[in-house]
Amino acid sequence: MNLVVLLLVSILTVANADLPVHCLHENIVGEWKLFKSRLVERDYPLDCKKDVGNTEIEETIVLKSPNIVYNKNNRRIGFWTMIYDQGFEFTIKEQLHFAFNNFTQQRTGENEMITSYCGQTSFGWYRILDDNKHGCYYAHKINVKKNDTIVSPPVNSMLYLEKGEYEKLNTHKNNHKLVRSINEEEDWSAEAYDNLEKMTISKIKAISGQSIDTKTQQQLLESENRVMEDSAADRILRKQLPKQWDWRNVSGINYVGPVRDQESCGSCYAFAATSAIESRVRILTNNRLKSILSPQQVVSCSDYNQKCSGGFPIMVGKHGYDFYLVPEECYEYQGQPGDCKLACKNPKYKVKVTQYSYIGGYYGANNELNMMREVVERGPISINYMVYPSFHYYKHGVYRHNHKQSRFFNIKTAHNGVKHWEATTHAVAVVGYGETDEGVRYWICKNSWGDWWGEGGYFKILRGVDECASEMQASSAQIEIIEM
Ligand SMILES: *[C@@H]1O[C@H](CO)[C@@H](O)[C@H](O)[C@H]1NC(C)=O
Ligand SMILES: *[C@@H]1O[C@H](CO)[C@@H](O)[C@H](O)[C@H]1NC(C)=O
Ligand SMILES: *[C@@H]1O[C@H](CO)[C@@H](O)[C@H](O)[C@H]1NC(C)=O
Repeated sequence: MNLVVLLLVSILTVANADLPVHCLHENIVGEWKLFKSRLVERDYPLDCKKDVGNTEIEETIVLKSPNIVYNKNNRRIGFWTMIYDQGFEFTIKEQLHFAFNNFTQQRTGENEMITSYCGQTSFGWYRILDDNKHGCYYAHKINVKKNDTIVSPPVNSMLYLEKGEYEKLNTHKNNHKLVRSINEEEDWSAEAYDNLEKMTISKIKAISGQSIDTKTQQQLLESENRVMEDSAADRILRKQLPKQWDWRNVSGINYVGPVRDQESCGSCYAFAATSAIESRVRILTNNRLKSILSPQQVVSCSDYNQKCSGGFPIMVGKHGYDFYLVPEECYEYQGQPGDCKLACKNPKYKVKVTQYSYIGGYYGANNELNMMREVVERGPISINYMVYPSFHYYKHGVYRHNHKQSRFFNIKTAHNGVKHWEATTHAVAVVGYGETDEGVRYWICKNSWGDWWGEGGYFKILRGVDECASEMQASSAQIEIIEM
């Protein structure tokens, strides 16, 4: 079966799971042979998903840990990053490359297995930086190791509970026992929401980015808090940065758009990114341009993401770099995959992303201070994190996933022993940070579940300890506004 068909099948059958491919940094490090088509001049990237074309150009590159890439022949040096566990991106000789890793999917009855070929990519795109020359490519690792081919159930289905416990979680009815225990034992408060009571299971799954499979008797991957001590330079930076910051109120001025509702579509990544970027438009124009940006255009038009089945804020940045983002009125939200039809041919303005990256430069390079600095200096950012059952009931305070709650779901700790990867299921925008009177540090996050939830649609989450893997893949975009 051909790969493109496989990918389409996977998008239709795997709910909210991004692509089921799962490759790690240590699989990707090494020497790679690139097979590239010729560059052609055009405004937008080629449809490499359909056809990589004639691959006439061959090059060999070496990806080194953590983020250096070099070309042995011409001694050029550049940088690379994993894109979560989905693929990798690198820039060398002014050429920007991105490809997903290759995978196949086997289903026998109820059981699904994924084979991730981490020693090869599927189709990929490359282009000259800031120039309209585009091509396609794929790559094969030289000296592929046995363990570069990973056979496992979809990672998303490993974030799971034992069967009996699963039913408790996925009743889509409020778990009053859990809500009560949070309110008795935790520093944050929970509420049994009427809106949760009314939701369908598929909507609950869509908004939390999890496809929990009853048949998979796996364990929930427990995220571990990671505490980093400030270096000398960090201590200076911490002193220089404001103790608190909130883009909803900077000297009385609000730079953040309204809280929205992603509905039954796994589009959190699009909301997380467009919400952060629309704030940056407001910041750059002093609130002269205040439209909200269209998540639907990203959902329907981006080949770098999986429509209503997940994606990544950093890849929304890539979409905005290769194409552009438009105001909401050009493509109103539908909460469905759709097929890329803009309503306005000539929007009042477009937003062009001029640079997008994980904060710190590559996947895994985030830390509390570089995230704080980015927020203060440039505006809201996007984060990914793991949604645990208790998160749905968040009402007020500084959220933390407490191990005490685990007993209600019989969650077992399963460490994957991998430094360069942490499971996450949801994405939101970070609009600021602060500290309670007791000195508990937190991020201020804007969710996309409507304003009935949490603190008017917002929540606070513990800062500085990688709570729920929230300080692992923060990303941001720098932008230019093109007014028509
Ligand atoms: C992906 O892997 C499958 C199975 O090995 C193979 O048939 C296919 O050609 C590969 N695709 C690419 C783009 O290398
Ligand atoms: C993969 O195998 C190589 C040896 O062939 C070993 O050095 C490496 O640590 C292994 N990686 C993983 C993730 O197990
Ligand atoms: C904004 O912040 C200032 C100072 O922190 C506060 O006095 C004011 O009430 C806030 N405004 C709003 C609209 O929350």
